[in-house]
Amino acid sequence: MADTQAITELSKRRGFFFLSSDAYGGVAGFYTFGPQGAALKANVESAWRDRYTVKEGNREIEAPTIMPEPVFEASGHLDGFNDMLVECASCGESHRADHLVEDVTDIEDAEALPNSEVADLIADHDIHCPNCGEPLAGQAVENFNLMFSTDIGPGGDQPGYLRPETAQGIFVEFPRLKEYARNQLPFGVTQIGRAYRNEISPRKGLVRVREFTQAELEQFIDPEEDEPNLDAVADVEVRLYSAEEQNKDDGGYLETTIGEAVEAGVIANEWVAYYLGISQEWYERIGVDMDRFRFRQHLAGERAHYASDCWDAESELGGDWVEIAGFAYRGDYDLSKHGEYGDDDFTVFKQYDEPKTVERAVVDPDMSTLGPEFGGAAADIADALRDLAARDPDAFDGDEVTVDADGETYTVSTEVADFRVEEQTESGEHITPHVVEPSFGVGRTVYTVLEHAYREDEVAGEERTYLALEPEVAPTYVGVFPLVGNDERLTDLATELVRDVREAGLSAEYDDSGNIGRRYRRKDEIGTPFCVTVDRDGVESEGETTVTVRERDTTAQIRLPVDALVDELTAVREG
Ligand code: GAP
Repeated sequence: MADTQAITELSKRRGFFFLSSDAYGGVAGFYTFGPQGAALKANVESAWRDRYTVKEGNREIEAPTIMPEPVFEASGHLDGFNDMLVECASCGESHRADHLVEDVTDIEDAEALPNSEVADLIADHDIHCPNCGEPLAGQAVENFNLMFSTDIGPGGDQPGYLRPETAQGIFVEFPRLKEYARNQLPFGVTQIGRAYRNEISPRKGLVRVREFTQAELEQFIDPEEDEPNLDAVADVEVRLYSAEEQNKDDGGYLETTIGEAVEAGVIANEWVAYYLGISQEWYERIGVDMDRFRFRQHLAGERAHYASDCWDAESELGGDWVEIAGFAYRGDYDLSKHGEYGDDDFTVFKQYDEPKTVERAVVDPDMSTLGPEFGGAAADIADALRDLAARDPDAFDGDEVTVDADGETYTVSTEVADFRVEEQTESGEHITPHVVEPSFGVGRTVYTVLEHAYREDEVAGEERTYLALEPEVAPTYVGVFPLVGNDERLTDLATELVRDVREAGLSAEYDDSGNIGRRYRRKDEIGTPFCVTVDRDGVESEGETTVTVRERDTTAQIRLPVDALVDELTAVREG
């Protein structure tokens, strides 16, 4: 198994990822994907797009990464998107207080505890500053909001934030998105894009960074009517670290199928279960080691402010379990909040099969009395009375009723309000859709794929390192080498083959530098599934021209007619 350092070194050496702005000392939590890393990431993103957008029949959008402050007031991020910070009095370094406590106790989710309790635990366990070694006892634990703020416009008078999740870019556009879906639930909207969090202590390479890519799907449903296609995933086998298994604390899992887990009530929400099922298969498809993978249920105190049922996909990295995706049932939290704060309609009109006759409480205030009595506030008072009748008809039981309008409280006689219950025929109702959200960290997925593909073995008595990447995600699919670089027949044919392979939509790299063994090693280290070598035997053969094709994991070589090469390589790539 590879440790984090081995992956980080290989990544830098071979161009997967490295700390950004190194020439200026770098800043923790910001990474650049090099040529191999950017290609690997793009392949993971297209596999995601294929599964969660195309195959599910969803629509993809691309929203801005900076959004105005009111969006985050409504979403709850301005008040609630905080981590626990403790600052060292000696060196001034800030740390995640909950992580420090988790590192030295068996508490798994210290974030769910009150700040004062975490401060006490720091003192009780005599936790020291990881930077300078001085004790942290006595330091206050504070809430630190993770959003990066900015000022929009030259005057800087409009505060904005870099979005901490791509999801809000979808929610705020719901009034238009529902129209593109012709007001028909269910429908899903996806987005792959950047998110930003001013993490207190970025760590573990790509695992906890300050700028990262998320791939999110917001599935809008009518909770009373819409059901997922559970049959499609019922037999998918999963390893569940359910709340019950976590409480047993014996390292066990529930090995079951999605269908059984739903039947037993372990996964409470069928939509969440559906997405766990297709995600199990998707992670396997892109090369995650399923022996180092599990779905973990959130414990009650751990769920995000918007989530009522939540599971994480976790992969084992360097000996620790790390969340790589979250599957949350967000209910109507987001659309209700944007409906409340925003100036648009975040509901969907749900047509009844047959028109219904319903009893409705209505008021018809007598404006000729309200006007003289309350002046300019009369119209707002009338609106407040109508709202109150719809919400709480019992409030009109007495002789008087009290309402708030324009920041004042007014008392109106129920006779003037003219309250009554009427029969009305209605063709439908406005409902606020519920949201099911699979949310993936692309960087963490890429890192998992890299670490799980890392192998060391021995070839012809020499140690080698290689990445057993799935062909679908491998950044360079084929290496093409002339056996020697000073024979034009070989270099010309190799150059031509590179062109043909690229023409077929596969990535190829030409390499004539160093001995053939070293060229193989370089390609092994970036996980290139096939190397094609053009040698004299192949071009001088009596019949057709042939090349050798070497498979990365087994290092087995076969000879192929050059004319069949592109078709063979394409067939393997397409599975
Ligand atoms: N919209 C829901 C949401 O953002 P989240 O669990 O906070 O939920 C989703 O984030 C995923 O984004 C995580 O599972 C993780 O893979 C990734 N992620 C979150 N914070 C990250 C960070 N600081 N660095 C890298 N990836 C991160």
